[in-house]
Amino acid sequence: MSEGFTLWFTGLSGAGKSTLAGMAAEELRRRGYRVEVLDGDEVRTNLSKGLGFSKEDRDTNIRRIGYVCNLLARNGVIAIAAAISPYREIRDEIRAQHKRFFEAYIECPLDTLVERDVKGLYKKALAGELKGFTGVSDPYEPPLSHELTISTSRETPQESLARLLGDLEARGYIGRDGTKR
Ligand code: ADX
Repeated sequence: MSEGFTLWFTGLSGAGKSTLAGMAAEELRRRGYRVEVLDGDEVRTNLSKGLGFSKEDRDTNIRRIGYVCNLLARNGVIAIAAAISPYREIRDEIRAQHKRFFEAYIECPLDTLVERDVKGLYKKALAGELKGFTGVSDPYEPPLSHELTISTSRETPQESLARLLGDLEARGYIGRDGTKR
C-alpha cells in the first residue's frame, strides 16, 4: 500500500497536461502500478458537472479532484491529476493533505499556446468572446516550490515523459529499475 501518491499536473490549457498524464499512466501501469487519471475536462462532465470558471467554482473543482486523489493515493494508487489548477494556495492546501505529493508544472509560453490553439479557445478568449480565460483574462499562478517543471515547447512528449519518470525515480516515488518499488 505504500507506493501510492498523487502526481499533480498544473499549467495552462493546451500546455500538455492531459497528454503527459495519459502517457505517464500507460507507462506506470506497464511497470505494475495501479493508476487513475483525474482530468479536469472529464471531471467537469461528472464529479464537477455544473461548475463554471469563477474562482470559487475552480477552487471547488480542484478541491474535489484533490480529495479523490488523496483517497486513491492512500490506498496504494498513483493518482494523476491534470487540471489547470490556477491558484497556488489551493494546490498547496491539497499538498498539505497528502502524505506523498509530486507537483509538476507543465509550462508553455502563451504565444505557443495561442499558435497551437487545439480547441480554438484562445482565439475566442483573445477576441473577448470567452471571458475569464486562464492566461488571457484570468489569473494563473505558477508554482514556486514544486518538484519539477516540464517545458513542453522545448522537448517532445517522449522527452518530457522520460524526464518525469527519471525525477520520480530519483526522488524515490517509483522504483529505479522499471519495476515496482
Ligand atoms: S480549473 O481551472 O478548474 O483547473 P480545468 O482544468 O478543470 O480548469 O478545466 C479547464 C478546461 O476547461 C480547459 O482546458 C478548457 O478546455 C475549458 N475551459 C472553458 N472555459 C475556460 C476558462 N474560462 N478558463 C480556462 N479553461 C476553460
